[in-house]
Amino acid sequence: MRASSKVEFGDFQTPIGLAREVCELVRRLGENPDVVVEPTAGRGAFLVAAANEFPNAALRGWEINNEYVTHATIALRAADVSARSSMTCQDFFTCDWEAVLAAQDGRLLILGNPPWVTNSGVAAINGTNLPTKENFMGLRGIAARTGKSNFDISEWMLIRLLRGLRGRPATLAMLCKTATARKFLRYAWQNDGRIASAALYRIDAAEHFDASVDACLLYLRTGFAGPQEADIYPAISVREPVSRIGLAGEELVADISAYRTLRHLEGLSPFRWRSGIKHDCAAIMELVRTPDGDVEDTAGQRLDLEADYIFPLLKCSDLANGRTIARRLVIVTQRFVGEDTGAIADHAPRTWNYLQTHRDRFQARKSSIYKGRVPFALFGIGEYAFAPWKVAVSGLHRSGCFQVVGPMNGQPVFFDDASYYLSFEREGDARLVADILNSPLCQRFLAALVFPDSKRPFTVDLLQRLNLAVIASEAGLGLRWQQLQRSSYTITANVPQTEFVMEELPRPV
Ligand SMILES: C[S@@+](CC[C@H](N)C(=O)[O-])C[C@H]1O[C@@H](n2cnc3c(N)ncnc32)[C@H](O)[C@@H]1O
Repeated sequence: MRASSKVEFGDFQTPIGLAREVCELVRRLGENPDVVVEPTAGRGAFLVAAANEFPNAALRGWEINNEYVTHATIALRAADVSARSSMTCQDFFTCDWEAVLAAQDGRLLILGNPPWVTNSGVAAINGTNLPTKENFMGLRGIAARTGKSNFDISEWMLIRLLRGLRGRPATLAMLCKTATARKFLRYAWQNDGRIASAALYRIDAAEHFDASVDACLLYLRTGFAGPQEADIYPAISVREPVSRIGLAGEELVADISAYRTLRHLEGLSPFRWRSGIKHDCAAIMELVRTPDGDVEDTAGQRLDLEADYIFPLLKCSDLANGRTIARRLVIVTQRFVGEDTGAIADHAPRTWNYLQTHRDRFQARKSSIYKGRVPFALFGIGEYAFAPWKVAVSGLHRSGCFQVVGPMNGQPVFFDDASYYLSFEREGDARLVADILNSPLCQRFLAALVFPDSKRPFTVDLLQRLNLAVIASEAGLGLRWQQLQRSSYTITANVPQTEFVMEELPRPV
């Protein structure tokens, strides 16, 4: 199989040992299905394992790749179960799953491992293995509600199968990315998916699939709406859950019982969290200062630029590692979103020439937020970004350690777009807010909210949910809190914040 086909079809065949482990678990949990459905059966590992574990069940497989259909058919024949099994060559996306599932009589077990690929992964290789445009738009409706534009094909398939069940009692046991399982559960819980119970059993994707991703077995029963919670098991072989995730309002939380104890700490933050500077052009915009004080680009090319537009920069990895002295620099072309950059030509002609030389790199920026903007436009910029004191955290690291960052050589420090921060005029205010955020109480609450294995454990939306006033008072910092000075750019608007474009309204000139 060509590498691109493997990507397009998310083709990670399940080793028979893992398929057997899953089927043993399903039987141990009391399942005794009349029909096993494998919607993307591949070479048939799950059907062969199920043949052994459920000796009376009919085994029904579907798969798009004809070679795999043949392979699975031969494997089922070798297991001596041809009489009770079938394999059909079928594109999942054009299958009438309502009709297929309705045609299966008795207790139903949906088993398998849908493709491991995202819609943008398929698009990037000009692939076509996606839902039809009409169905895709159907999911985009879901995407809008769950706040994502890139999604895993397997999430779409899981939702499609759940809908195909039409509320019927059934069991579903499928391998997928842990993040996919969580997004699916959130959708199902929010949309009356009639999930009676749910559990996630972590698997070692590196060992079984040579893939560096957090993956799990999603195990659930349908038919009526049970608690909106799911037990988390560290492995398929473990019998006691280590934690329980759940839906709290609109959001999933990582530890639902700790969340219930601490949820009074939730509320709209009195401060407004910001994302770091976004330019999508690191090779040109990020610079380093040499020991003798010169400026170089990251490839080591010495540059002769005016100082006016160059500021210290901390990356999220700096923040996560406790580094608050910036080793990098960033060119800041605007003081607020939408500011005309043409003035740089007069104020700093060498900087303007440098930017012009790399104009094509800026024009090639993929994100649509730059469309129709002035040349060299930025996001995550405004008066707040030039404030002297900040409390910042990496969005990408699980540590959740909040750093106080002050000016360097009289200049405000900037952050990359994977960092989040609050701005302050006074050092003491920044130190107090960092003390609140790093207090054991706040860290316990964050641990209840945050999924450490997610790509971006911390987001503006999440941070905005911390009611710092209440946390300060319970953490014994109430008196200092009362002395805190609020300045215009720290006070939050009375609406939830989302990142970048939504939050960055151009400042009137
Ligand atoms: C992750 S592999 C798993 C295969 C099998 N379920 C297993 O566990 O070994 C995903 C399978 O989905 C199949 N597939 C991908 N796109 C499909 C589609 N549109 N319709 C049906 N099957 C598809 C691939 O060919 C591949 O065999």
